[in-house]
Formats: sequence, C-alpha cells, structure tokens
Amino acid sequence: NAEKATNIVWQECLVRREERQKLLGQKGCVIWITGLSGSGKSTLACTLSHALHSRGKLTYVLDGDNVRHGLNKNLGFSAEDRAENIRRVGEVAKLFVDAGLICIASLISPYRRDRDACRALLPAGEFVEIFMNIPLEICEERDAKGLYKLARAGKIKGFTGIDDPYEIPVNCEMVMQLINGICPTPKEMGEHVIAYLEEKG
Ligand code: PPS
Repeated sequence: NAEKATNIVWQECLVRREERQKLLGQKGCVIWITGLSGSGKSTLACTLSHALHSRGKLTYVLDGDNVRHGLNKNLGFSAEDRAENIRRVGEVAKLFVDAGLICIASLISPYRRDRDACRALLPAGEFVEIFMNIPLEICEERDAKGLYKLARAGKIKGFTGIDDPYEIPVNCEMVMQLINGICPTPKEMGEHVIAYLEEKG
C-alpha cells in the first residue's frame, strides 16, 4: 500500500527527539523479542518493562496478542498478514523511539525478512533483537493457552512450529536459551538484557 501515499511532505516540529529524550533522561530504542508461542516472549517483555520502569525508564510493550485486539485486528496468520502485522508494529515502534521511549515488541515474527525490515527502520544500534531459543517441545509442554493441542489436533491450521515456519535469527543481538537444560527465570533474562543495554549506553 506504500505507493498509494503520494504528494506528501515530512513536517518537522520544534520539539525533536533529542529534546524529548533529554526530558525523559533516556535514549529511545526497540527491544524486539522473537520466538515460538510459549517461549516466554510476553513474560520477558513484562518483566523487562517492570525492571526498567523501576529504574526510572519509560517503556511501552507492544505485544502481538494485544496489538491484534485493536490496530491489527483485521490480520490473520497467513505469511502476508504476519508480514503486515510485523510491518505495522515496526512502524509504531519507530514512532515510540522517536517519542524517546524504550519500546519492547514481543511477537512471534517468524520471518527473518520481516524482522530485518523493522531493524532497517532505525539507525544502527537502536534495534536490539532477542531470540527466545526455547525448544518446541518445552513450548508445547507449557501450552499455556492450549493452542498447541488444538494445532496438533488440526483445529488450528498454520500454527508456528507445527505446520508453519519459524526462521531462526542469524544476526540477533541476544539469545535466551537453556543453561544445562534449565530455562533461566524471566528475572535473570531481564537482568541480562539490562546489563546489555547499560553496556551499550
Ligand atoms: S506473528 O506471527 O508475529 O504475526 O504472531 P503474533 O502477532 O505474535 O501473534 C501470536 C499469538 O497469536 C496466537 N495465535 C497463533 N500463533 C501462531 N500461529 C497461529 N496460527 C496462531 N493463531 C493464533 C497465539 O496466542 C500467539 O501468542 P504467543 O504470545 O506467541 O503465544
């Protein structure tokens, strides 16, 4: 649809990103959490948001499930609809970064191309991709929403990891994975991410 927007001119405002960031005392960025359903994306997003909030940082979580209740309620789970879902969230995340926020996006985002397109919307270093590398068996065993059971029974078609693809990130900034067969707690993962953010300024 991008080509439909013609004869448009970008408008600058007096208050710019730098001023907003100064006011907030922080730098905006996107933390993009990708992985299978049940891999803990939303839990990490909430834990991280809470931990950053406690440190006086303004965050906002864009969660796939939540965004699909409103902005993206007209999209399903075909490859095209998922691409549009990710594209819109990437654009909203970019606006939030411009607002000076730390935007935490948690979506399956199964296609590398869609994730890379969101990365390309921002200057280098402002898009931090985190891969929840939790084995399918564990996600399926958790099955908090009962969706894997439905997918295995053929009642949901095109479920990521079952009969729909998930493309593993190749250039992500962080990977969350089992350590000696044990999944780190959300708190541990959150601390790990904050250490990374502090290191990168
Ligand atoms: S995507 O692929 O990034 O567009 O998906 P996302 O917007 O993150 O939405 C994922 C949540 O939708 C539910 N759900 C499905 N997931 C995967 N495949 C299919 N077919 C599907 N149908 C519904 C599911 O609750 C996902 O939530 P999470 O939080 O990932 O478990």
